[in-house]
Amino acid sequence: MKAIVYEKYGPPDVLRLKEVEKPAPSEDEVLVKVHAASVNYSDWVFVRGKPFVIRLMVGGLLKPKIKILGADIAGQAAAVGVNVKQFRPGDEVYAELSAYGWGGFAEYVSVPEKALALKPANLTFEEAGAVPQAAVVALQGLRNEGQIQPGHKVLINGASGGIGTFAVQIAKSFGAEVIGVCSSRNLDMVRSIGADQVIDYMQEDFTNNGQRYDLILDIVANHSISGLERALSPRGIYVFVGGSMAAVIKASMNKSERIRNLSAEPNQKDLVVMKELIEAGKVVPVIDRRYPFNEASEAVRYYGERHSQGKVVITLEHDNK
Ligand SMILES: NC(=O)c1ccc[n+]([C@@H]2O[C@H](COP(=O)([O-])OP(=O)(O)OC[C@H]3O[C@@H](n4cnc5c(N)ncnc54)[C@H](OP(=O)(O)O)[C@@H]3O)[C@@H](O)[C@H]2O)c1
Repeated sequence: MKAIVYEKYGPPDVLRLKEVEKPAPSEDEVLVKVHAASVNYSDWVFVRGKPFVIRLMVGGLLKPKIKILGADIAGQAAAVGVNVKQFRPGDEVYAELSAYGWGGFAEYVSVPEKALALKPANLTFEEAGAVPQAAVVALQGLRNEGQIQPGHKVLINGASGGIGTFAVQIAKSFGAEVIGVCSSRNLDMVRSIGADQVIDYMQEDFTNNGQRYDLILDIVANHSISGLERALSPRGIYVFVGGSMAAVIKASMNKSERIRNLSAEPNQKDLVVMKELIEAGKVVPVIDRRYPFNEASEAVRYYGERHSQGKVVITLEHDNK
């Protein structure tokens, strides 16, 4: 089979299309014929091996141990292991593989049954491939750490990106009033996916506008902790989702109960929650660009500019193999 392989850290053009051995599913795994994958922050940092600490996580100080990146996939079950109960060959599925060794940028990947869910029936593979990681991170940030409630005033900082576009819609589905922070060019898009109010970060600092929020979901982390505390209502919660390494350290050192650090855990249950929200028409994936499989390195490079409007998707064509 063909896969996007990398053998050394570097710019995205170290990602090369290569012929590799097709995996065989173990007894608890499903072999998935991948029709679409999408790019996440992990692909961007792991390909470059930067920041350096990431190499300890990927398991290769000088060169990567994991050769095939890609956490998000949508595709079709091609074969199932003997112990697999929930899926049959032909099922249309999606999965998040970051807890299972990645490997999604390939024509086939073996996926543990517990990491897989049926894909939302109303989505194409391309659309479904955009969902897993970004949507589950948004869901767990809002629901688990953020304890979102109907009527809450929820601010999403980074509302126009992969995670942010899901967060806006998921927060609306919980009955919250949603305020999206993005740049001028994305104001209309963020409004169009349901934000009640938008703030242009180029014009206004949400920590200094006199407003208070019950929940701030922060995918950018570009404000001081004192500014964020000022923007929280008396019982408000701040959830740190992403940002620079310095921001990660700052957020994890803060001991306040109201400042929380999300460490998302991909799981089947939340993929099912997303399937239901999507099939109910409450969440629609926003896709910025689609790239053919042989241009996966370009997709990762584009994601790395960090100004995507929603998700960056890679599509695979199979010729009846
Ligand atoms: N906690 C966890 O478990 C977990 C899991 C996965 C990922 N993450 C984190 O999530 C982050 C990646 O998220 P993503 O994939 O959604 O990123 P992304 O798709 O690259 O989106 C970034 C968005 O941020 C916006 N942005 C840039 N500067 C901004 C500012 N000053 N104020 C507000 N918005 C701004 C950009 O919009 P404009 O173009 O309009 O500027 C862009 O839409 C990483 O930091 C990663 O570590 C965390």
